[in-house]
Order: sequence, then C-alpha cells, then structure tokens
Amino acid sequence: MNVLVNGRREAYRTVSFDSAGNRVLLIDQKLLPHDFEVAGFGTYRETAVAIRDMTVRGAGAIGAAAAYGFAQGIRAWAGGSGISDGFMEYVDDVFRTLGEARPTAVDPMNALRWMRKVLTDSGLGSTEEWGVRALDLADQFADEDVAHCQAIGGHGASLIREGMNILTHCNAGWLAFVDYGSATAPMYSAWDSGTKFHVWCDETRPRLQGAALTAWELHNHGVPHTVIADNAAGFLMSQGKVDMVITGSDRVIARTGEVANKIGTFTKAVLAHYHKIPFYVAIPLSTLDWELSSGAAIPIEERAGEEVYSVNGISLRSGARESVRVANRESRVSNYGFDITPPDLITGIITPKGIFNPSELGGLEGLAD
Ligand code: MRU
Repeated sequence: MNVLVNGRREAYRTVSFDSAGNRVLLIDQKLLPHDFEVAGFGTYRETAVAIRDMTVRGAGAIGAAAAYGFAQGIRAWAGGSGISDGFMEYVDDVFRTLGEARPTAVDPMNALRWMRKVLTDSGLGSTEEWGVRALDLADQFADEDVAHCQAIGGHGASLIREGMNILTHCNAGWLAFVDYGSATAPMYSAWDSGTKFHVWCDETRPRLQGAALTAWELHNHGVPHTVIADNAAGFLMSQGKVDMVITGSDRVIARTGEVANKIGTFTKAVLAHYHKIPFYVAIPLSTLDWELSSGAAIPIEERAGEEVYSVNGISLRSGARESVRVANRESRVSNYGFDITPPDLITGIITPKGIFNPSELGGLEGLAD
C-alpha cells in the first residue's frame, strides 16, 4: 500500500521482518492517523505484547505478526543445534505465548499450527535449520495473505456499481492484513478500475478503528468517504443512503457460516436485513475455522474497561496526544470486543476463491493448506 509520509509516497507492508536484526517490524497502529511510524520488536515476547496491546491488529496482520514472531523465537534459541526436549519445550512456549495474545481471531492460530506441523514433519536435523525454514514459512504466510486479499479484491469488485454508497465497520483494510485488506480490497480494486462510489466508515467505538484507520486508508487511496457515529447506520439505511455493507471477519465457522467480527457488526447486519440491503463479509482462507462446530464456542475477547470509559486522540487545542475520561469513575463498564453474526443475515462471503453463500464454505476445505 502506498502511504503519503512527509510529502513522499512510499510502499509499506503492515507487518515485515528484519532478518539481520531478528526483529518483527510493525506499523504502529496506536499512533495513526496522526503519526506514522514503523516499530521494531526484538523478542517473541515483545511481539506477543505488540499483538495484545494492538500496536498491530486485524486478523491477517496479527496472523502474520504471530508467524514472524514464531520464526523470531525459533531463530533466537541459544541452547545448541540438537533437536532436544528442551528445544521442543521452548518451541511450545513460543507457540503458546503468541497464540494466546488475542483469542478471537483464528488467523494467528491457523498460521502457528500450520508452521509447527510443517516444521515437525520436515525432519529437519538442527535448530538452525528450523530457524531458516520457520522464516521461509512466515514469509510464505505473509505473501499468501497479500495474494488472498488481492484475489478478494478481484471477486468483490464485481459487486460495486457506479454511484454506490457502501458501509463498512471497523478496519478490515490493509492495516488489518499485510496489504490490500479484505473488506476494502473490492473497494480499492473497483476504484482503480474507474468505478466511482462513496464509503460510510462506522467510527467503531471503543477503539475507533473506523475513524482512525479505515478513513485514513481510504484518504490515502483517494476514495471518497465519510466517518459516521456507530449509531447513524440505521437512519442512513432508512433514508436509502446505504446500498451495500462489506465487513471483514476475525473468524468464520466454516461448518455453519457464522461470522465473528468487531462488536457492532451483528447490529449492522440486523439493520441491513431489515432494510433489504446486501450484507457481505470478506475473508482470506486463513480466517476460516475448521475445528469449532458452533459460533457459541468462539472465545470472545473482553478488553480493559479503560477503552470504554475513555477516548484517545490528539488535543484540538495543543495537538498533543491525550487520553480523556468520559464516564464517571464510579460506574462499571464492560468491553466485549466482538460479536457473532448468524449466516441468515449474510448475503455472501467474499473469498479469494469466489463469493459463496455462508452454507457453501465447506467446499473450501483443504484449500488453505
Ligand atoms: O480488535 P481488532 O481491531 O483487532 O479487531 C479486528 C478487526 O479489525 C475487525 O474485527 C475487522 O473487521 C476484521 S479483521 C480483518
């Protein structure tokens, strides 16, 4: 993705790796849209903290960060070349630390499980060989994420017609992946082929990924857009001002077609259904969960109450970064990060392999390996 930084347009990936320094490099999403910085993380534990504190966030991006963190951890092993019990216990610890950083998105677990299986099945003779192969696999996961998002763009662009108003929730843009994004990929693809349209960006409380990240991305790409309060969607739909909704997802249960996504997605799906507006979800194959049999089993992340009782931004007066408390100190707050949208509210799932009814996802089994 090209980003305008200090007056110059440069290509960036959200997640990358400095092989010489064994560092995971992440665009620091906590600073956007006001500052653009790439931060380096020198140990797998630091990488796990960066995933947990949302320096990097979004399903595909944390999948790639976990994959690079896994390679980073393996490359840092200093206990000798032999494949000892100690080494395998250490690998398990790296796996667990990264896998537990964010529970709802399945992409990190899918990436880690795939890497561990390939590594253990490869019959590699030394820990150094594990390190080399692990980094190759992490690169492969990241490149595949980019390719999947481009393919989503190709399929999804056919849904976008001239003059449409499209609503999106949270950020399922290139910042949520390694590049291009899932929900935004059809928009970027349609825009680049000359179709003109407009995007409503839900601000997405409490972390405001829509206002802070999606709007910034669309601005960088030159796509006309408007940030709205989360509660405005119903009114806009009732006025005929929303033609289609496209969101991303953190986990789609392949067997049922249930979609976990940022809190508030379910509400938008109900509203879209009521107004007979098509509701699409865009995902790479790494977002499919083949293990769980029901959306009720998806672990829903609960985050710190501080995200709800306060707001972060820059001061309108001084421009300094500030956090301000909104709610009174005495009231309790709750902060569920995600909700589950049932398949009957979803018009189609846009994947790298085409657009499917949620009930047809079983046909994609095996294609992600
Ligand atoms: O808490 P976040 O920002 O990591 O939430 C994940 C998301 O970005 C959204 O739920 C998004 O719509 C799907 S992830 C591509």
